[in-house]
Amino acid sequence: MSTLIHSPAWLALTAHQAEISQQTMREMFCDDPKRFNKFSLQLDGLLLDYSKNLITAETLELLLNLARQSKLDDWIARMFNGNKINTSEQRAALHTALRAPLNTSVYADGKDVVPDVHRVLDHIRVFSEAVRNNTLCGHTGKPFRDVVNIGIGGSALGPLMISEALKPYGSTQLNVHFVSNVDATDLAETLKRLDPETTLFIISSKTFTTLETLTNAHSARDWLVKHFGADEGVGKHFVAVSTNRAETSKFGIDSENVFEFWDWVGGRYSLWSAIGLPIALYIGMNNFERLLAGAHAMDEHFRKTPLEHNMPVILGMLGVWYANFFGAASYAILPYDQYLQHFPAYLQQLEMESNGKRADRNGQVVDYATGMVIWGEPGTNGQHSFYQLIHQGTRMVPADFLAPVTSHNPLGEHHSILLANCFAQTEALMLGKTSAEARTELELQGLSGEALEALLPYKVFPGNRPTNTLLFDRLDPYTMGMLVALYEHKVLVQSVIWDINAFDQWGVEFGKQLAGKLLPELQKNERVFVHDSSTNGLINHFLARRV
Ligand code: F6P
Repeated sequence: MSTLIHSPAWLALTAHQAEISQQTMREMFCDDPKRFNKFSLQLDGLLLDYSKNLITAETLELLLNLARQSKLDDWIARMFNGNKINTSEQRAALHTALRAPLNTSVYADGKDVVPDVHRVLDHIRVFSEAVRNNTLCGHTGKPFRDVVNIGIGGSALGPLMISEALKPYGSTQLNVHFVSNVDATDLAETLKRLDPETTLFIISSKTFTTLETLTNAHSARDWLVKHFGADEGVGKHFVAVSTNRAETSKFGIDSENVFEFWDWVGGRYSLWSAIGLPIALYIGMNNFERLLAGAHAMDEHFRKTPLEHNMPVILGMLGVWYANFFGAASYAILPYDQYLQHFPAYLQQLEMESNGKRADRNGQVVDYATGMVIWGEPGTNGQHSFYQLIHQGTRMVPADFLAPVTSHNPLGEHHSILLANCFAQTEALMLGKTSAEARTELELQGLSGEALEALLPYKVFPGNRPTNTLLFDRLDPYTMGMLVALYEHKVLVQSVIWDINAFDQWGVEFGKQLAGKLLPELQKNERVFVHDSSTNGLINHFLARRV
């Protein structure tokens, strides 16, 4: 049994939860007109309103006591200082060094890594500018018009999400595409529309051993070679981002076309490194550097701000409050910005691969909940599908609402309508609709008697459903950097409280092993009997019926 749930800070929160469950947010807002001022924070035009949470000043103090008890300050310092906090892999987690300015120093294994980081940034600048201004061309001398990033997980989701989020800053001459799935459909549908002579492939793989990525990379290579009739084009049309130079050269990629990164960069924390090459190609290096600057601003805020005014700390501790003291199992990310359509999927990997763990740092199986299921869709679309459950279902689903003050596409009343929906949803989730209010509403509609009573239960909303709102001036590269770093640090905060390592991913490695073992059985054409009856049955059905 862990000591965490018997610790003073945890027990104080358990007792406090019982008290606060007797109150409603409606009452809390009535009792304190300054609630918004008390429970909101701002950083460089990013506003976090966390007043619509089931908290009082005391809750916050108790949550921060838990953070202090867990020595959160020390862990933050250890991460920034390059200590090997990823203990199961004996690695530092130094994604913050990737956005450190040139005049600073960050040490990994006693070596200042900042000069290396900037050397690679220079490499990205030279390469991306040459492609963007058509001085670096394909095998037949034509300028590149399409970039295909082949990578999966952290080697895809970040660049995909950012390229979509920053589309207004994107090149009009260069398209970016992302192929991840080993399902050939992903590659085939992408290549269908492309011309090999104007297509540049980036093979993004930290390890350069990931089966999906290598399978796609070889098929892309075949597509190109088939067009040119020989291997010669490969050197000009393929670059790699990897830590594994031996494998990139085996694939046939010239060493000057390999963009380096380091084992202290975790896959899901890597969009700031050369893994961000497709971003730099698409939005230009100056904008990529604004993205890094925004992330660095959030790093500085996280590192230097007292816990009670610290955005990632507040966001992280609120998540702990609901996961561990209210039993919330899932958490919704609801961007009111179409450009953020891939943000929920990106955060899914960031949070679930980081904190979806059951063994603590001492190898003990924990007896408390850890990472929540992260999901979401842009508003207002989600309002017409799953919001029903958030409003009236039996489960608590805390949610983050994100919205820009100014749209990149000012079109009639669209943006006011969008934001009216965003604000109205968080208000409704907080207030709910009492039975008396629902009754009055029905009466005004002319209902009475049995008809009214029959409908009444369905018209009641419990309210008291917690949300955060993140408002930013405009979705620009700097803001995007701040937002992503905010969630990265939120993940660290929660991992510290749960005493788990947020930087390994053994569960995913297990999946890789299993598929590797089974593949040869599908390649032969013999019935198999070595698995459980379900797996044998599925394999044999597949073998018998495939054409
Ligand atoms: O999906 C598991 C994982 O290890 C991720 O953490 C990583 O981002 C992804 O695979 C891709 O790995 P690689 O960059 O080595 O191909």
